[in-house]
Amino acid sequence: MKTTISQVPQYKEQTVTIGAWLNNKRSSGKIAFLQLRDGTGFMQGVVAKNDVSEEVFQLAKNMTQESSMYITGKIVEDKRSSFGYEMQVSGIELIHEAVDYPITPKEHGTEFLMDHRHLWLRSKRQHAIMKIRNEIIRATYQFFNDNGYVKIDPPILTGASAEGTTELFHTQYFDEEAYLSQSGQLYLEAAAMAFGKVFSFGPTFRAEKSKTRRHLIEFWMIEPEMAFVEHEESLEIQEQYVSFVVQSVLENCKLELNVLERDTSKLEKIKAPFPRISYDDAIELLKEKGFTDIEWGEDFGAPHETAIAENFDMPVFITNYPAEIKAFYMKPVPGRPEVVLCADLIAPEGYGEIIGGSERIDDLALMEERYSQHNLEGEAYNWYLELRKYGSVPHSGFGLGLERTVAWLSGAEHVRETIPFPRLLNRLYP
Ligand code: 4AD
Ligand code: MG
Repeated sequence: MKTTISQVPQYKEQTVTIGAWLNNKRSSGKIAFLQLRDGTGFMQGVVAKNDVSEEVFQLAKNMTQESSMYITGKIVEDKRSSFGYEMQVSGIELIHEAVDYPITPKEHGTEFLMDHRHLWLRSKRQHAIMKIRNEIIRATYQFFNDNGYVKIDPPILTGASAEGTTELFHTQYFDEEAYLSQSGQLYLEAAAMAFGKVFSFGPTFRAEKSKTRRHLIEFWMIEPEMAFVEHEESLEIQEQYVSFVVQSVLENCKLELNVLERDTSKLEKIKAPFPRISYDDAIELLKEKGFTDIEWGEDFGAPHETAIAENFDMPVFITNYPAEIKAFYMKPVPGRPEVVLCADLIAPEGYGEIIGGSERIDDLALMEERYSQHNLEGEAYNWYLELRKYGSVPHSGFGLGLERTVAWLSGAEHVRETIPFPRLLNRLYP
């Protein structure tokens, strides 16, 4: 019977065949322990000299790391391993012998591993992180599908910027200039007026010269946009969504969290509602915490976010930032036009901003005013203005950065480990 490691629990005390690679190996005179992986999981195969032919035993003993094989044996319970099962091997058919696999069980430097990302992905740790990423994606689709959202795919090639012009990737579009999308938001606003509640999930690009553990040049964003939803209701949707994702990962990625030695007690607490702190109060809090020279009107950097987050064991919304430091489309707080109806959601444990969101300006005259203040006039934006001309309604939306969320839930130090092939300031290979 041919199966996979993930299906092994169904075959207790039965003999199965698995297509696998050798991840690692230990052997003594009479026994070889093969650490196997097949993509779906990791499992030990035990080859006892007395149970197999001399040929199979020699094959097992001399097998090199990352060689591929069909391996056959009886599945038995193994209480000592976190997986819970192992194979008592009866036969091995070598498919391909790998010679001098570069990533050995010893420690390697980060740059070396990044240069071998195409192989590094096979490691137990990277496997666990990618499985958590996959679970976040799965839970995201489930949450928005179950709640009546329509998935809309905005274009990647765009004629206008959504988040400001400094971080744009320019590209030639025949005889026009185009940009790679920084955010699908403007298009999602159009879609929300057509479908009510929508979301997108796709790659976004920021030509940011930031070399931090939170910044990628190409990253994936989940962007919901909702018609007839005002700021406060949007925050409630965000906390419901994030709680759902965290609880799904806890439930469906137990093995992976265990491999990563993630302290899950911190994640178990993550349940809506999340605390909120206004930008004004956050400034006061920072001053009390020793950031004496921060002034009202300044944006927060990573150290500020971390200091604010320390006061909570939940993700925290920082609300109502100054209009000056936020995007042109955010709706002013009624009676206080210097601040806007927006929030950044800051993850606990120093993982920083995972969501940026806001209620959007729905008034045509005000949007036109913002256009001239931000020098945005031009054809590229006309269609966006028209959304305020024909049946404008209050609407809100937000963007969750997938990789920062993966980093938080898996406990990864740096976002470079949270996407299969990271694009960083100094890296386009492999
Ligand atoms: O706060 P941002 O820039 O918001 C927007 O783009 C809005 N248009 C979204 C919306 O309202 N539809 O980005 C949203 C999130 C951030 O909170 C962060 O998690 C992630 O995207 N992000 C990055 N992740 C990795 N590398 C980068 N360079 C990122 N820039 C933003
Ligand atoms: Mg932001």
